Amino acid sequence: MRSDPDAIFDQFPALETARLTLRQIRPSDAPALFAIFSDPDVTRYYDQPAFTELAQAEGLAARMPQRFADRRTIRWGITRSTDDHLIGTCGYAEWKRHFRCAAVGYELAQSEWRQGIMTEALTAVLTFGFTRMHLNRVEAYVMTGNDASMRLLQKLGFQEEGLLRQYGYWQNAYHDLHLFALLKRDFSALQDFVKPA
Ligand SMILES: CC(C)(COP(=O)(O)OP(=O)(O)OC[C@H]1O[C@@H](n2cnc3c(N)ncnc32)[C@H](O)[C@@H]1OP(=O)(O)O)[C@@H](O)C(=O)NCCC(=O)NCCS
Repeated sequence: MRSDPDAIFDQFPALETARLTLRQIRPSDAPALFAIFSDPDVTRYYDQPAFTELAQAEGLAARMPQRFADRRTIRWGITRSTDDHLIGTCGYAEWKRHFRCAAVGYELAQSEWRQGIMTEALTAVLTFGFTRMHLNRVEAYVMTGNDASMRLLQKLGFQEEGLLRQYGYWQNAYHDLHLFALLKRDFSALQDFVKPA
């Protein structure tokens, strides 16, 4: 297996956790993506309103794997190991290779909230990022009020570094975004994962 970060694009790296399988997103996931993204509670803090048409989800189901095929970045579909049905997605929205830095993004169907699913999925995604992608820093941008997302990040060891004033612009308004970041040296799951030989 090649060890340079770009080798991750040679074959889609499915990830397994105790309860979950993180796999490539496929066109057939469009209805499940529509169910997730048409819920205004899921998209409340997003730069786009809730989906109203299946075609929007079909576009997303095509774009997400295309970014992987273009060797730009990676987004996993989250399923329970017992079931191939997509319940969420997570991955790296932006990868600045020369800085060894990427931004993480994630969302989960509301029916699955508060069961530790995203903590479990992101632990695998972060472990993958800090090892296979050679990341040193993972960032997250969170809108004021998105307490679930902020607490999730803090639970994973992210630190809030500041408020990016009017950093986002969507729906005719500027939005302040909280910058969170996790450094490789501070990611405790990694210490368990990479045991000295
Ligand atoms: C943010 C989100 C992914 C959390 O997923 P989740 O699987 O429910 O999160 P977890 O169950 O792993 O919870 C992790 C921690 O976050 C906190 N948390 C999660 N949901 C919360 C909520 N609704 N209110 C307050 N705290 C919450 C808890 O502290 C929890 O830890 P604990 O259960 O040990 O106390 C989910 O709420 C979601 O999809 N939101 C909409 C999309 C979104 O906003 N994405 C992020 C954009 S920046």
